[in-house]
Amino acid sequence: MKLFLTSNIKLQTLIYTEHLKLNTKFMNLKLKVWRQKNRKAEGKFEEYNAPHVSPDMSFLEMLDVVNNDLIKEGKEPVAFDHDCREGICGSCSMYINGRAHGPLKGVTTCQLHMRSFQDGETIVIEPFRANAFPVVKDLVVDRSAFDRIQQAGGFVSVNTGSVPDANAIPVPKEDAEEAFNVATCIQCGACVAACKNSAAMLFVGAKVSQYALLPQGQVERTERVLDMVEQMDKEGFGACTNIGACSAECPKEIPLTAIARLNREFIMASMSSPKQ
Ligand code: SF4
Ligand code: FES
Repeated sequence: MKLFLTSNIKLQTLIYTEHLKLNTKFMNLKLKVWRQKNRKAEGKFEEYNAPHVSPDMSFLEMLDVVNNDLIKEGKEPVAFDHDCREGICGSCSMYINGRAHGPLKGVTTCQLHMRSFQDGETIVIEPFRANAFPVVKDLVVDRSAFDRIQQAGGFVSVNTGSVPDANAIPVPKEDAEEAFNVATCIQCGACVAACKNSAAMLFVGAKVSQYALLPQGQVERTERVLDMVEQMDKEGFGACTNIGACSAECPKEIPLTAIARLNREFIMASMSSPKQ
């Protein structure tokens, strides 16, 4: 779409013009944003005004507008991570008013709209905070610990061949649905950021479950869970104490049963693996 090909400044102008035409009321917001030059520097909150915010802008578009203003003033724009802007990639992780991905349930920051806030509101924006996710700059954190856990076992090394005929590999409907649900995890890290222990059990549970439930995942089932949990511990994530904040704040609403399955898979693997 033409809209997506425009630069941020053109997009801002377009949105502004469209809203003038529609006579929509703009919002006037104050932002308290965490600024930190790099992982070693000390960070602090800085305040910015965000006037002329359209209620129909996404949260990231609002940050684009604020950054354009900062650039015009000769100031450093706020660094934040993003890619798909449609709730798929998990990049847009940040804390908004004390909630991972903001106030709405089951919504990523990029899909959060400014109409979810009140005109005149002060919005506090912070990076995800966990030792295993060090701050790179401002709101950007390094979530490569998740990549290393995935690399430890989140794959199948069997040749799955070409697309099989429908029903050639029977999978019970409940297993197929559960595997699909947990496979919607986008690796965003909100579960870790929301957990008081910075545990990664929901993420690892989702990844282990999606393979454990399907025939293709059986070959490495035992080693997978042991290797992923070992890597999770190496990365410095905390232990789960059954609080449930991870699932409550997960934008893909991965259920706590993923953690229960992870625990079962781990116990079974520990008893049967020659490694243990
Ligand atoms: S389990 Fe949910 S919160 Fe955790 S990484 Fe996956 S999608 Fe994000
Ligand atoms: S930018 Fe991809 S999920 Fe938000």
